[in-house]
Amino acid sequence: MARRIAFLFLISFTFHVAALPQGPPAGVRPVVVQGAMRSETEKLASNLDNVSIERVGGWTFWRGTLDGYPVIVSRTLKGIANAAAATAIAIERYNPIAIINQGTAGGHEPGLRLYDIVLGNSAVSLGAFKTPYRPAGAGSNALDWVPLNLMASDGSAGNDSSARKVARFPGDTVLLAVAQRAARLHTRGRVVDGVIGSSDMWIDEIDLIERFHTKYGTSVEDMETASAAQIAGLFHVAFLGIRVVSDNTTNGEPYEPKTGEACEEYVYQVVKAYVATLAR
Ligand code: 5AD
Repeated sequence: MARRIAFLFLISFTFHVAALPQGPPAGVRPVVVQGAMRSETEKLASNLDNVSIERVGGWTFWRGTLDGYPVIVSRTLKGIANAAAATAIAIERYNPIAIINQGTAGGHEPGLRLYDIVLGNSAVSLGAFKTPYRPAGAGSNALDWVPLNLMASDGSAGNDSSARKVARFPGDTVLLAVAQRAARLHTRGRVVDGVIGSSDMWIDEIDLIERFHTKYGTSVEDMETASAAQIAGLFHVAFLGIRVVSDNTTNGEPYEPKTGEACEEYVYQVVKAYVATLAR
């Protein structure tokens, strides 16, 4: 009887080991690729091998491999707070070597056409400002607002003159160089370096866009890149924002959701080229 139980145990153990998914090599730091929406992440996730899905709170992570290297696709959900939380969770759980935040964005210059892609040599926060005093009934004018860098000092940002500068987060130069080299693989538009501005606003006021463009050099606006860059920076994790122009109110081009997929296809090539440079 005892021998039969031992035999059955052995059979079931062997079956379980054989059925285990072929995971990425242990101890290798993964690359995390973020997108806010299904239309910005589905294609990337479906192109990974050996995928397992992990859910943490409201966030989903697809853990898999690309050319044998561990890659994790993260759906951050939309907006500054969601993207920051998703980034902190990814770093704490998976210890990534690099993070790419990618997806759609609105153009801040008329020359940028739908399907053009902007590589973020920096990202700026368009979500933190101090307004001048205005008495009751005097209305509001965002063109008068001064930027607040909430990372500038520990003191009260409102009273600290050194904080009156836009918060800017640089893109990683190695990731940027890899993305630039992959540019020829994106055939539906151009690939250019630029500045990605992020806030929880969708701005269609041409004068405000023009102000951000001239003051901070913004090429496009989105709702995630700068906040993910801020968190990656605090953890010293290499970061790059990659954004496709999905709409451009400065030249009248309306929103085209299919641009998100084109961005995923390009980012897949960038990740492929990047992991080829990494030790396993
Ligand atoms: N302004 C702000 N966010 C935009 N997005 C696409 N176009 C714009 C735009 N013009 C992206 C954001 C967010 C969702 C609304 O799409 O990053 O995730």
